[in-house]
Amino acid sequence: MNILVTGGAGFIGSHIVDQCIAAGHEVSVLDSLWEEGGGKNTNLNPKARFFHVDITDEDSLKKVFDTVRPEVVCHQAAQHSVAISTKKPELDARVNVLGLINVLTNCTRASVRKILFASSGATYGTPVRLPIDEEVEQRPESPYGITKLVAEHYLRYWQEAHGLTYTALRYGNVYGPRQDPNGEAGVIAIFAKRFLKHETIRIDWDGEQQKDYVYVGDVARANLIAMEQGHGDNDIFCVATGKGTSVNEIYDLLAAQIGYKPEIVRAPRRPGDIHLAYFDCSKAARILGWKPEVNIEQGIRATVEYFKKG
Ligand SMILES: NC(=O)c1ccc[n+]([C@@H]2O[C@H](COP(=O)([O-])OP(=O)(O)OC[C@H]3O[C@@H](n4cnc5c(N)ncnc54)[C@H](O)[C@@H]3O)[C@@H](O)[C@H]2O)c1
Repeated sequence: MNILVTGGAGFIGSHIVDQCIAAGHEVSVLDSLWEEGGGKNTNLNPKARFFHVDITDEDSLKKVFDTVRPEVVCHQAAQHSVAISTKKPELDARVNVLGLINVLTNCTRASVRKILFASSGATYGTPVRLPIDEEVEQRPESPYGITKLVAEHYLRYWQEAHGLTYTALRYGNVYGPRQDPNGEAGVIAIFAKRFLKHETIRIDWDGEQQKDYVYVGDVARANLIAMEQGHGDNDIFCVATGKGTSVNEIYDLLAAQIGYKPEIVRAPRRPGDIHLAYFDCSKAARILGWKPEVNIEQGIRATVEYFKKG
């Protein structure tokens, strides 16, 4: 397949690129290397063609589509941060909505067979019931969650109006090698880096808040499966593990693996943080034949190994 991965220099996108190339596909990457995002030159797979382009730039995006003529577009590029979206909602909407429309327009123009979209558990806000599955009501509580939900509606509309096939994957909390440890999210990456430097660890709230942490390699594999003809067409799937892990458990797992217990600094609950979120991913298992394969111990080990090298 000829695949264009937007955001392919980023954390998740670069793992998708690597798996696509390992599977023998031809891959092009489009990324603006936005300074507040996780995109880096060092994440770029040398076997992929790279276009340093912003998805909101109409002329440049058109040229990339005309040059690459992709069969499949895997759209990972985004303003990815809840915190930035609350401070700069216009920026969030410009990239996550107008950027998406620009990508969709070009998909139709260039007769792309299918688009994959990185949606998010943030579209649910505080979940009205657990586990979170695809039928749970979505009530996003941040501009980021709102633009991701709007994007899902655009995909459905674009399919109905223009016949573009899509699959949207609602990721849980993705973690693993290459996650940016300098952002405000990504507790495993932030902690791993601080553990290795013997720095203090800030635990907000009581540390018992649980999220569903899914390993980046498993997320990339879900994307690869959904790229295949007929796999999960015009449908939406939750991609996580089905299991919540608390912040205190993450601390303990890192302490056991690194053999060091850094000092804990307690802090109040972060506004909007939720106490419990985990997913039911049986639809992805049933229709895509996808299940997570890396458990939290294995995933944390791989993440620590990565940060040791850096
Ligand atoms: N990390 C998670 O836990 C998580 C959870 C749910 C959904 N997602 C979604 O998955 C996707 C990938 O996220 P990530 O965690 O790898 O973040 P990331 O910041 O590492 O990757 C996003 C990439 O998009 C690029 N980008 C940003 N704005 C762009 C623009 N205007 N034009 C072109 N490229 C641009 C960035 O440079 C970066 O390389 C995003 O759509 C994100 O919203 C992530």
